[in-house]
Amino acid sequence: MVTVAHTLENLHTERRTFKPPVSLAAHANATAYEYKKAGVDRLEYWREAALRLAWHEPFTEILDWSDAPVSRWFHDGTLNACDNAVDRHVREGRGDRVAFHFVGEPGDTETLTYADMHERVQKAANGLLSLGVGKGDRVAIYLPQIPEAVVAMLACARIGAIHSVVFGGFSAESLRQRIDDAEAKLVITADGGNRRGSHLALKPLVDEALASHGEGTAHPEPCASVEHVLVVRRTGQDTAWTEGRDRWWHDVVDPQTAAHEPEWVDAEHPLFILYTSGTTGTPKGLFHSTGGYLVGAAHTHRIVFDLKPETDVYWCTADVGWITGHSYIVYGPMTNGATQVLYEGTPNTPHEGRWWEIVQEYGVTILYTAPTAIRTFMKWGEAIPDRFDLSSLRLLGSVGEPINPEAWMWYRRVIGGDRCPIVDTWWQTETGSIMISPLPGVTATKPGSAMTPVPGVAIDVVDDAGRPVPNGEGGYLVITEPWPSMLRGIWGNRHRYVSTYWNHFDGLYFAGDGAKKDVDGDLWLLGRVDDVMNVSGHRLTTTEIEHALVAHPWVAEAAVVGANDEVTGQAVVAFVIVRGDVAGIPDDGEAVAGELRKHVRKQIGPVATPRTIMVVSEVPKTRSGKIMRRLLRDVAENRPVGDVTTLADSSVMDAIRGGLEAGK
Ligand code: WTA
Repeated sequence: MVTVAHTLENLHTERRTFKPPVSLAAHANATAYEYKKAGVDRLEYWREAALRLAWHEPFTEILDWSDAPVSRWFHDGTLNACDNAVDRHVREGRGDRVAFHFVGEPGDTETLTYADMHERVQKAANGLLSLGVGKGDRVAIYLPQIPEAVVAMLACARIGAIHSVVFGGFSAESLRQRIDDAEAKLVITADGGNRRGSHLALKPLVDEALASHGEGTAHPEPCASVEHVLVVRRTGQDTAWTEGRDRWWHDVVDPQTAAHEPEWVDAEHPLFILYTSGTTGTPKGLFHSTGGYLVGAAHTHRIVFDLKPETDVYWCTADVGWITGHSYIVYGPMTNGATQVLYEGTPNTPHEGRWWEIVQEYGVTILYTAPTAIRTFMKWGEAIPDRFDLSSLRLLGSVGEPINPEAWMWYRRVIGGDRCPIVDTWWQTETGSIMISPLPGVTATKPGSAMTPVPGVAIDVVDDAGRPVPNGEGGYLVITEPWPSMLRGIWGNRHRYVSTYWNHFDGLYFAGDGAKKDVDGDLWLLGRVDDVMNVSGHRLTTTEIEHALVAHPWVAEAAVVGANDEVTGQAVVAFVIVRGDVAGIPDDGEAVAGELRKHVRKQIGPVATPRTIMVVSEVPKTRSGKIMRRLLRDVAENRPVGDVTTLADSSVMDAIRGGLEAGK
């Protein structure tokens, strides 16, 4: 049976190892020499990696750490990320290579070569300029997984504008927060996208996000910063139109000339902002540089996925709205000239073999996906992938959450035919690129372990006092040296950047993850140690959802925990206390739960919808008033409740248990 939690027990008993396939090792992009080189001179190692990019003006300094913890890498060089991802391939004679095999959910397909992408990004860049967007301006992108999403991101990069992609699963309210925080001038969206066989509208959510919500609301005024909304026609559904503000992509972009000189920017010029859940309520706008970020994304993509751009067909199933899509669909693979699959839809539309059909059809050789997807396929049964020819696959990747050994083994056996190595890659929006992973031609892997830091990255596991733990013990994961693709900060809030990541341990980057070093010193990730949850690989914060719940007139108090879930890794479980002074609240807990679930969807988006909402009379708190989520997690996971000695009122847990039993 599938178990999700990495208990220390099962890690202690996991002894299987898998050597790299001989044929892969013989031709691997990265050999053991890579670690040696990085070990001898880390900065020189990164300098060489940086030299693989196309620079407009070369850099002379590798790292400037004088303003720590804000780093500057290659800062006196200039370049353009779009030039590296697109133009360079055309310039160097690779224009005919396929950049994307796009597969729409309804079955429409499109093949785009690097030359096609070149034409499109130049037109789009000219289109953006014609709308008055220029270097340093922020552009919000709220699109389905279609080629225009990639084109829009690269067109921003091309003119030096800073994109902020907002995942389509976020609500109008979340979009508004992100637009306001970044003061975006333009929103690029679509009429809608295809989702599970129907049309999911996006433009109405943008309209709602930009509108005034009336006196006394959080948004009494319409959004002040946005001048235009650029709308891609994808589904053809009817769309309300604000004259003057709204423009069709095909009207603005298509007539432009396909000639545009990239804006050469300093290596430290911000490339994008990406919002992610932090430990407090409001999402943080993390931002990344152009040069260092691109070096990290391209280099790790080359060595971890062993990409052979002439022959591989690479498919990363993430959405471009997340960091994985940024680094391992757009910037890393394209800089390396990869041929990719880009798929718009869900894995079971119109049937549960859709992914495997795509692998077979396009001869996918490298697949990069998330444990939650693998566990879903396990649940659907191996008979489904077995119906397809998956023999083209040669390498499998995993990202987003700890992968349990059972899922790892299933992935290797059923999808990888017992021949493909698995790279379990640990990293974060903050790190910009992969930090811990096996190298497929070098590392003997262990099911469930992300193994070792990639060359050039310095990682440790420390105890409460910040001291490295010995092999065999666990603690907090930290990064001990700056790295090129590290975040440069939180948009507009240096203080929050320093306090979130650098105040826990002196001089060490605090990742927020627990980890263990096994007896060989290999790393096992144990999940978050803070209030961040990981639901299907999406980061959510307990407080963010608690805030949304208490904003509802029925709710007096709310406590949210991430409970283990067989498929999604963790699931959102909320405990709410309803108000005694409000009339009309249904007696029926299910009715309350239904209404509140709808409310959270509206406030944050479908990604944050609680799996379970329990109406309770009290939540457990310490004497200082802090909610004891640990105990609620015990309840949510049906375990005996742990140590209650620090509770202000120890009868609370009995009351919660009793109430839930009675409600069954
Ligand atoms: C978790 C996604 C274990 C971790 C790239 C991290 C992982 C958070 C792994 C970042 C992995 C990601 N093994 N845990 N291979 N990959 N995580 O910012 O808790 O969406 O802190 O970046 O996901 O999530 P984010």
